[in-house]
Amino acid sequence: MSVLHLPASPHALEPSGRLRSSTGSAALATTLALRPGLWRPLVRFREETRWTRLLDPELLAGSLDPSLHADLAAAEVWLLSWVPGQGTALHDHGASAGAFAVAQGVLTERVVAAGRGGRHPRETTGELSAGRVRAFGPHYVHQVRNAGTEPAVSVHVYAPRLTVMNTYRVEDDRLRRIGTEQAGVDW
Ligand SMILES: [Fe+2]
Repeated sequence: MSVLHLPASPHALEPSGRLRSSTGSAALATTLALRPGLWRPLVRFREETRWTRLLDPELLAGSLDPSLHADLAAAEVWLLSWVPGQGTALHDHGASAGAFAVAQGVLTERVVAAGRGGRHPRETTGELSAGRVRAFGPHYVHQVRNAGTEPAVSVHVYAPRLTVMNTYRVEDDRLRRIGTEQAGVDW
């Protein structure tokens, strides 16, 4: 099974360290997602609202190859669960780049890229099953949901640490920002 699916965004190909950041985040997310012994005891599923947990880097460091410690030190790692029907709004991650890997189940991702010069936004939708990872650059806009019938779990890595997330709507053939949320509060 292919565990790396790179890159999702043209930003991931930019020079001067951004590529390294994206690939480091992807490697980190994939490595953690493929270790159910690490995340399974921690994960919870919640029907009312989505469940998220910020993971302790010291806890993770002991389970990771030292070659990933520098990426871990520069990042923030979240564990998320998704019962069927749960999902996010269309959002970005502020100035953070990163990656998310599916650890269990299947997630559906809708990606919207703003059109240049007044052109329509470009949209793609795809499924990511367990073991797949999506790397992204800053200002990447997507919507993630569990459109399946089984609960899903994912590992999300952000570098630098997530601070704000903007939410969007496609309206009148434009990608319009409709709000800004503090990270970790409602995403
Ligand atoms: Fe996201």
